[in-house]
Amino acid sequence: MTEHSAGIRFLEDTLAGPQIEHKKTLIADLEGIFKDENARELLPPEMVVYEVDAYQPVRGGTQGGLFFGITRIQPGQVGNEYFMTRGHFHALADRGEFYWGIKGIGTLILMDRNRNARFEQMQPGSLHYIPAHTAHRVANTGKDILSFGACWPADAGYDYEEIEANGFSARLINEGGTPKLEPLQ
Ligand code: F6R
Ligand code: ZN
Repeated sequence: MTEHSAGIRFLEDTLAGPQIEHKKTLIADLEGIFKDENARELLPPEMVVYEVDAYQPVRGGTQGGLFFGITRIQPGQVGNEYFMTRGHFHALADRGEFYWGIKGIGTLILMDRNRNARFEQMQPGSLHYIPAHTAHRVANTGKDILSFGACWPADAGYDYEEIEANGFSARLINEGGTPKLEPLQ
């Protein structure tokens, strides 16, 4: 491996090498993201909900550059809602992204600026194109870890504020053991 390359261990769903950033998102970090805030507060604050390994070979903001990441979402629920990523539009909103399933099962939730939501099932090998101007979030609907890959423009950035303020227009809940979409009240 040269100094500027990263190793992908697909079978282990991790990235290794220089210029890899590791980020853990805990229950404590997800205030206001799940519907049942009381249920979230009852869970251990240090509980890991998801982790991201991101290979960033260029500086964030570099026009024409690409980033590559792997996200691992733990199985679990807050109330009846599955563990999921925070979700975001890109700060440069006209930037798209690819996601693809590596391990486990889940649902990719997509929402446009008019709050029209749609859903794609994720499983090992599934490939998902996230168009520009589209918020994206992934929920782990299985009993094991869900991991997925991502590739996105280095200048895309993150706009978390819009989702923190208004959420997605539907949530994914466990109803009697089956994932069900619940429109936002
Ligand atoms: C990058 C991207 C993914 C997510 C990751 C965590 O544009 O979409 O790498 O950043 O799956 O999700 P968030 O960022 O929503 O916490
Ligand atoms: Zn993104």
